[in-house]
Parts: sequence; structure tokens; C-alpha cells
Amino acid sequence: MSARIIDGKAFAAQLRRRVAAEVDRIRSGAGVTPGLAVVLVGDDPASQVYVRAKGRQTVEVGMESFEHRLPDTTSEADLLALIGRLNADVRVHGILVQLPLPPQIDPAHVLDAISPEKDVDGFHVVNAGRLSTGQEAMVPCTPLGCLMMLRAELGVLAGKRAVVVGRSNIVGKPMAQLLLADDCTVTIAHSRTRDLRAVVRSADIVVAAVGRPRMIPGDWIRPGATVIDVGINRIAAGGKTRLVGDVDYDGAADVAGAITPVPGGVGPMTIACLLSNTLTACCRIHG
Ligand code: GUN
Repeated sequence: MSARIIDGKAFAAQLRRRVAAEVDRIRSGAGVTPGLAVVLVGDDPASQVYVRAKGRQTVEVGMESFEHRLPDTTSEADLLALIGRLNADVRVHGILVQLPLPPQIDPAHVLDAISPEKDVDGFHVVNAGRLSTGQEAMVPCTPLGCLMMLRAELGVLAGKRAVVVGRSNIVGKPMAQLLLADDCTVTIAHSRTRDLRAVVRSADIVVAAVGRPRMIPGDWIRPGATVIDVGINRIAAGGKTRLVGDVDYDGAADVAGAITPVPGGVGPMTIACLLSNTLTACCRIHG
């Protein structure tokens, strides 16, 4: 194995320390405590784990955490009413509605009801539009975390050939926008891309965000490339389940210059960026 391992856990711990110091500053200076409201509808087990982790880390950096757990029979109207109250609540600087939502609720209606200034997930169309037109935006947490690690690993990204595999609104599209804003030459590849192997092989930077276990074999990676693996896939292995990424880690680590592991790569950075976005939202009001 030759690749450097990009330690997302260490990056996330460092970012949380910076956020905690700023929270301290704004609490003692402006007398304001940044607050994050997390809304969970239903009892999806993975969502429960994420929401618990978000609440715990919010408190650990000195922010206020407001958790709203609603039954999976909640109507869209009731959820929209709660979002209206959170939009108006001055103690709440960030609002996150955990996805997925139960089938009776249209996520687009809900995400677009969140005030764009409190949209710490960066999923509101206004924030997507701001990002894609180069204006100040709330940036989705997962691609933001990927960008921070890429900048730390590579320094200036200008001129690099970046391939983003996956075109979701949550990761693929905003990731491509961020890389473009840093002057990369960006390709978005997806399930209909012809000769995906050749496309991936052309990249100095590969961001894999397809949600398919080990879909990208090691021999697709250009020697020395930087690989960011967003996938968190549960697979059965020897009677247990284990987490693997979208990239075949062992194969890719032989040829890549640097690579994020799964777990311990992108995952920890996502929550740290959520805290950072909440702080940003608070600072835009209270300096
Ligand atoms: N569900 C899985 N990932 C996310 C995320 O980043 N934000 C929200 N709101 N829900 C999710």
C-alpha cells in the first residue's frame, strides 16, 4: 500500500476545536449561543444514530441543541408548521430536517420551507442557486468536508482534473460546483456514463458518491490520484455487517497518492461541517 491515508477523524476533531473556540467567542462577546434544531420524523434506525450524534456533538462544542422527534404518521402540514415556528425562533440559527422522510411528506416542500439563512444542510433551492452562481451560500456539509480535506491534502486545486461519480443534489452536484469554483476541470459521471473506467482514469481527483459498494476498482485509479470516498455501504461479511465505500479501498490504496478510508474518512467531517455551518449562520446575524 502506498497511498497516504486522509484522516477524516483528525480533520473533524480539528474543525470542532475551531468551532468550539468561535462559539466561546460569540457567547462571551455578543452574549449569544448558536442553536441548532434537528427534526427527525419516524424511527429509521440509521437516522436515529445520526440525529443522536448530531445532538451530542452540538452540545460538545458549546452550542444549544433543539431536538424534535415526531411520529412517522406526522402530516406534511404539521411538519411545515413546526418549521415555521423554528424559522421564527431567534434561539435557532440552524435547522436540519433529517432525511429520508415518510412517504406522505414531500421532501422538496419541507426543505424549501426552511429559511435559506437557517438552512445549514444547504439543500434549499436558493442555496443551491447561490452556490452555482458563485454567491455566498450555505454549502451542503458532505461536499464541504470533502473540499476542506482536498485543499488540505493538495493545496491549490486550480487546473486539476476532477471526476465526481454521482449526480445527487446532496453530494454530486454541489461537489462539482465547489471544485469548479476552485478552478478544477470538472466532470460529473453517473450510471449512464460511457466508459466510466476511462473517465475515472483521467482524474487527478476522484470523488465517489454513488452508494454502491466497491463499485470503483483500484485499477481504474490514475497512479498518484487523490481519492475521496463518500460511500457508506453496509455489506454482509462473515456473519456480520461491515462498512465499505464506493471504491475498492485495498486496490485503490496501492495506486492512489492519497485516499480517505471508510469508515473514518468523509463521515466524521459531515457533522463537523454541520456545526461549522450553524456557527456561520449565527455569525451572519451576530458577527
Ligand atoms: N440523511 C442522510 N444524510 C443527511 C444529511 O446530510 N442531511 C439530512 N438532513 N439528512 C440526511
